[in-house]
Amino acid sequence: MSPTQHDVGPETVVLGIETSCDETAAAVVLGGRDIISSVVSSQIDMHAEFGGVVPEVASRAHLESMNPVVRKALADAAIEPTRVDAVACTVGPGLIGALLVGVSSAKALSLAWNVPFVGVNHLEAHLYAGFLEDELLEFPLVVLLVSGGHTMIVEMRDHGDYSLLGSTIDDAAGEAFDKVARFLDLGYPGGPAIDRAATQGDPDAIRFPRAMMDDGLNFSFSGLKTSVMNHVRRHPDVDSLDVAASFQQAVVDVLVHKTFRAAREVGATGVVLGGGVAANSLLRSEMTAAGRSAGIRVSLPGREMCTDNAAMIGAAGWHRLRTVGASPLDIGAFPSMPLVTSGGHPDE
Ligand code: KG4
Ligand code: ZN
Repeated sequence: MSPTQHDVGPETVVLGIETSCDETAAAVVLGGRDIISSVVSSQIDMHAEFGGVVPEVASRAHLESMNPVVRKALADAAIEPTRVDAVACTVGPGLIGALLVGVSSAKALSLAWNVPFVGVNHLEAHLYAGFLEDELLEFPLVVLLVSGGHTMIVEMRDHGDYSLLGSTIDDAAGEAFDKVARFLDLGYPGGPAIDRAATQGDPDAIRFPRAMMDDGLNFSFSGLKTSVMNHVRRHPDVDSLDVAASFQQAVVDVLVHKTFRAAREVGATGVVLGGGVAANSLLRSEMTAAGRSAGIRVSLPGREMCTDNAAMIGAAGWHRLRTVGASPLDIGAFPSMPLVTSGGHPDE
């Protein structure tokens, strides 16, 4: 039974699929909100020895994991494939080889089960992670989306109606965490490694620059990374735990300051965090504190909903199916797909 745009409702079951980077994920989501199952198979160990994601390795691993991950998502949800009303999958942005594995699999399942296929923008899905865990969110919202590839402040006026208020002009926040962690030899992936190291360091030990602090809503993290490297080269005996804590404090200060400035500027009722860096302990506690003093609701999705997962794809897919409808089966994959505000995909 294929739902049309008009009968997508609380009982509609969407199977979400995500393969844009190094996580093969599938999830069953009911009514765009209830996570019935969520399975994430991470490739972190495979890429760790290279210090970063190797695209070719990622594509092959997705191919091997896809069927078992989908099977487990259905088994954990205790449903038969006949209960699935639509298959939603990330179509971009991401690594092209990795995306194609998910897109091809999702299209095959939608054909085999005779249900709609929904192409989802990965960035839009990160915006939706907040909705999976906070029923009280009301528009307009400001979302800080901070991941390994993106750092952006988005105004969300309604479902599918967004404005990009600011973004990074060089490195993404997660990229800065990963590069600094690699430089300090703290391990991979860098974000969680710095998060852990910082708990034992002094955040006030070194005053690293807060770039563009009072200059609009864009970000720059490349100078901070260089400043960390220069400091360590000039002071080889410096405690790397202090460097990690001071670096993290500088990143968090800028993220919190600009997010709340944006929230005040657009009169947002709430602030939502999304993307892998939103799992950062200091960012979470400082966002919560800033929200309390500004009287603005701050919504922090659980850490597993901040990093890449398929539940957010299922949720975004449900909203897209309801507001825009199914995607054509000849749609491709889009490595540099922007966050679109019209609900359209690049080739529609
Ligand atoms: O959203 P995500 O899982 O994948 C992308 O779409 O990029 O984000 C991954 C990024 C990596 O750069 C990783 O180091 C960072 O999120 N990250 C963190 C933490 N956990 C993951 N950064 C800071 N603190 C964390 N606890
Ligand atoms: Zn992501």
